[in-house]
Amino acid sequence: MKKLIKNGTIVTAADVYEAEILIEDGVISAIGHDLSAQNAEVIDVKGCYIFPGGIDPHTHLDMPFGGTVTKDDFETGTMGAAFGGTTTIIDFCLTTKGEPLKKALSEWHEKAKGKAVIDYGFHLMIGEINEEVLNELPDVVENEGVTSLKVFMAYKNVFQADDATLYRTMMAAKQHGALVMVHAENGDVIDYLTTKALEEGNTDPIYHALTRPPEVEGEATGRAARLAGLTDSQLYVVHVSCADAAERIAEARRKGIDVWGETCPQYLVLDQSYLEKPDFEGAKYVWSPPLREKWNQEELWTALRNGNLQTIGSDQCSFDFHGQKDLGKGDFTKIPNGGPIIEDRMTILFSEGVKKGRISLNQFVDLTSTRAAKLFGLFPQKGTIAVGSDADIVLYDPNVERTLSAETHHLAVDYSAFEGMKVTGEAVSVLSRGEFVVKDKQFVGKPGTGRFIKRAKYGQLTSTKDAAKQTSN
Ligand code: URP
Ligand code: ZN
Ligand code: ZN
Ligand code: ZN
Repeated sequence: MKKLIKNGTIVTAADVYEAEILIEDGVISAIGHDLSAQNAEVIDVKGCYIFPGGIDPHTHLDMPFGGTVTKDDFETGTMGAAFGGTTTIIDFCLTTKGEPLKKALSEWHEKAKGKAVIDYGFHLMIGEINEEVLNELPDVVENEGVTSLKVFMAYKNVFQADDATLYRTMMAAKQHGALVMVHAENGDVIDYLTTKALEEGNTDPIYHALTRPPEVEGEATGRAARLAGLTDSQLYVVHVSCADAAERIAEARRKGIDVWGETCPQYLVLDQSYLEKPDFEGAKYVWSPPLREKWNQEELWTALRNGNLQTIGSDQCSFDFHGQKDLGKGDFTKIPNGGPIIEDRMTILFSEGVKKGRISLNQFVDLTSTRAAKLFGLFPQKGTIAVGSDADIVLYDPNVERTLSAETHHLAVDYSAFEGMKVTGEAVSVLSRGEFVVKDKQFVGKPGTGRFIKRAKYGQLTSTKDAAKQTSN
């Protein structure tokens, strides 16, 4: 059935204006005034903003890590995402050395199948470069629609790749039109510092942060950026946590190197002192890179405002406090890294960013949706409100005040990283390709309705017509 959205204020990365939106067959068919409501369900959204659905370019759902598996999978994770206003995620597909890339991708397709309530794509981890990998890559990019490759510079003996692998991934990415993503921390130095800390009997969660100082992230960020310059390739640095790393990205961009940076809500509002919470509660706040000294937060906001950082990912990677984070009692290196952020990603940006005057409404949309769509080959099918784009739409009440809590979130995990935090703004209703997933704050979606989206190559913007063709394939 057609839908007509009336009386709201449309916000895109470029504009703020009042108009009606007509939705037909899952796509925005008209934007204007006095549109015909014949045969259409009329949705009156007086007082609400109308945002393009959020795009979360960084999630780990149903992912094995440190001898356990994330609590939230593609069902609960995407439900939480939808409640927060996110309508597309790009999840990281892990690979195993010596095994075909395609095998890893099929495994990830299986994880999502029948579960996702919103659309999704995959990034592909590259752990080694050899003949087999080089032979498979063109097909992965061209035909599988997986156009971003992830290299870990940390997690020694687990995910970490060496610099030659990073260099060769960049060369291949340049050739085939993929975007290289890095987890930028110096894994070798971290390995030394963590071993030493444990030998000295320093086992509490706070030592997770103290053994991964900002210099270790800044160094790896700068190194990756230099290699991107050397290979004349393209680089996206995930989860930038500190001023040091943000400055390395700014420096590379000033030199004209094609480098982009993402930060996450946790680094904007939480700080290193959270790791010192008593009764092992600090384990809830263990991320890699770690939370930083508080002064870094304003530096990150400034980088978002002035364009030196361009996107917000959640780095959703949830583990229960009881039963999973517990694994690291008496040894901080065994605390599974990560936290539940997917649901609150846009809320925090809106409440702490827009409402507190740090970023504009247009910047909010760009940071949480449009820029990721452009970088990851989803635009303009996703990431904006335009005729021909998917009707992925958030109807947002900018004035409601509420308190974030595990009591009210929609994830499976047993805690909230933002427990007790007061925020302003909430997604009231959320549509994915023209169908309500959340309606008046109630879940009305269905697991399995989310579709895998084949993404365009890096830098190759498609027209809405091309985009529509791609989805129906
Ligand atoms: O601590 C984190 N960030 N966990 C998720 C895995 C990663 O490094 O992104
Ligand atoms: Zn990472
Ligand atoms: Zn991550
Ligand atoms: Zn809960």
